[in-house]
Amino acid sequence: MTQDTADQTGNGLVLPRYRRDDVDAHPPLLSPGYKSTAVRAPRQPLIYLPHRLTEITGPLLGEGRLGELDHDLTRQHDGEPQGQRIIVHGRVLDGDGRPVPHTLVEIWQTNAAGRYRHAVDNWPAPLDPNFDGVGRALTDERGHYRFVTVQPGAYPWKNHDNAWRPAHIHFSLFGRAFTQRLVTQMYFPGDPLFFQDPIFNSVRDPKARERMIARYDHAGTVPEWALAYEFDIVLRGRESTPFEDEDDDE
Ligand SMILES: [Fe+2]
Repeated sequence: MTQDTADQTGNGLVLPRYRRDDVDAHPPLLSPGYKSTAVRAPRQPLIYLPHRLTEITGPLLGEGRLGELDHDLTRQHDGEPQGQRIIVHGRVLDGDGRPVPHTLVEIWQTNAAGRYRHAVDNWPAPLDPNFDGVGRALTDERGHYRFVTVQPGAYPWKNHDNAWRPAHIHFSLFGRAFTQRLVTQMYFPGDPLFFQDPIFNSVRDPKARERMIARYDHAGTVPEWALAYEFDIVLRGRESTPFEDEDDDE
């Protein structure tokens, strides 16, 4: 979301106001095929509240608070995690194609076997003692971010008969204030599980779905070390990356 209008307060203070992009690419809060949306989607029309100082300002995670290895999920333990090592990189762009520098990008994902290190993920796939599946990075001056991780696995999730999530990496972009946080998922090209995944297909526009699929980037690979995928994130406009309800956690 970007700043697009301003409100005049009673005391003369002019506050910027942020609103959700109205492009029809984003998934609806209620998607019948995605069962858990039925219990958390609002049943009443939304009421837009005016933004006040607390919604548009606040402490930001500065560069100095990022750990040296936060962006490298393969080096956060004594040993290396199992799985195919990959580089995931790209740019964060605004609706006019301009890079968004110094913005916090966070990711979370399963290990190579398709299991999260999470209390309620207990399906019979092994945990990896050398993999937490969580990373964060700041974009540089050109809006570019870069992670080193391992290829995540598919996992079953009981949404429907024999339901499997396609391999994916969750992304969060923090923006300049809490009201700007955006959440999406990155998928991998050619995944055979797209056809039966109601989360991927809750984005109804096929072209918008394509924008959630990373591009295999052979030029970005490191010979004899890692494959690479490129995933640009566009914050709004006709080329916007589809963003989801923040409570989605599958
Ligand atoms: Fe997931």
